[in-house]
Amino acid sequence: MLTETPLHDPVLHNTWHVVALADHVKANQPLQVHLLGEVIALWRIEDRIVACQDRCPHRGVSLSQGSIDGEGAIVCPYHAMSFNGEGYCTRIPADLKITTFPQAANLRSYPVMEKYGFVWVCLGEPTEDIPVFSEWNQSDITTFRCGPYYINTSAPRIIENFVDIAHFPFTHQGLLGDPEFPEVSNYNLSIENGEICASDIHFYQPNPEGTGEAKSVSYLYKVVRPLVAWFRKGDEHQLFSIFIVVTPVEETRSIAWLGVARNYSSEVSNDDLRAFQDDVMAQDVPMVESQRPQKLPLNLQQEFHFPCDKMSIAYRKWLHQIGLQFGTC
Ligand SMILES: [Fe+2]
Repeated sequence: MLTETPLHDPVLHNTWHVVALADHVKANQPLQVHLLGEVIALWRIEDRIVACQDRCPHRGVSLSQGSIDGEGAIVCPYHAMSFNGEGYCTRIPADLKITTFPQAANLRSYPVMEKYGFVWVCLGEPTEDIPVFSEWNQSDITTFRCGPYYINTSAPRIIENFVDIAHFPFTHQGLLGDPEFPEVSNYNLSIENGEICASDIHFYQPNPEGTGEAKSVSYLYKVVRPLVAWFRKGDEHQLFSIFIVVTPVEETRSIAWLGVARNYSSEVSNDDLRAFQDDVMAQDVPMVESQRPQKLPLNLQQEFHFPCDKMSIAYRKWLHQIGLQFGTC
């Protein structure tokens, strides 16, 4: 069940969030998505996507159960009230003589963008642009997406899992780590331009890219937004990077999405690599769903930390500093 009243988090309210794969948004049928306790209807009008509240202002019916008419307006299934791509009411069939509609008859519409094959929505006024992943614009690089992964925990717990290497040999034994090589080398940690950056992490992996080839891998990790993180592994010749974006559906219900970019192993298909990432995520989910508390504790005394957890510690300190409340305790 979704909460009736969303917890208003000033940080996340004014942040871009991924809510869907762009391919899943159609011109002829609205798509219902969930973000921060709100229910949103998405549809396409020509070359743009529209995001509006998925609740008719008349009697509260879900508009995404309705249809899109020939003009690109969403039509409520209950009384056929229509709304255009700006959320303005355009028609009330039960009272066709009304041609000027009051503000209360309109829908809330939200800023929406399409980037990296995902649909990004902001419930308020975005304070920052959608993060830039420069490798996605390079001609020699192949990209693909993974997800949605529906996970019953808070979004910050999922980001912290993504930047945690020490669990690889145990949770991802045989794929991303080997229990015979469990140590995490000391690494550099810096905070630059509002990003938490961990560099020079060296780690032995039996099958780091799903290609079957074992190697010692060098990682660069960044947390670039409260719920967006990224890593690159390899050297300047062989690039393999993944970014993760987590949709905060409710405080302890989230959806994770991955964007993967690489410039080698062209003999391995994107579908095979996606299946590999699905396997990795399937190993992570029972770990993060069992964590208690489900919300990420920002008081560092509440959990024990390893020295190699310094990136997680920096993440928690940063979330505390920027005042993130949703999904934290
Ligand atoms: Fe993991």
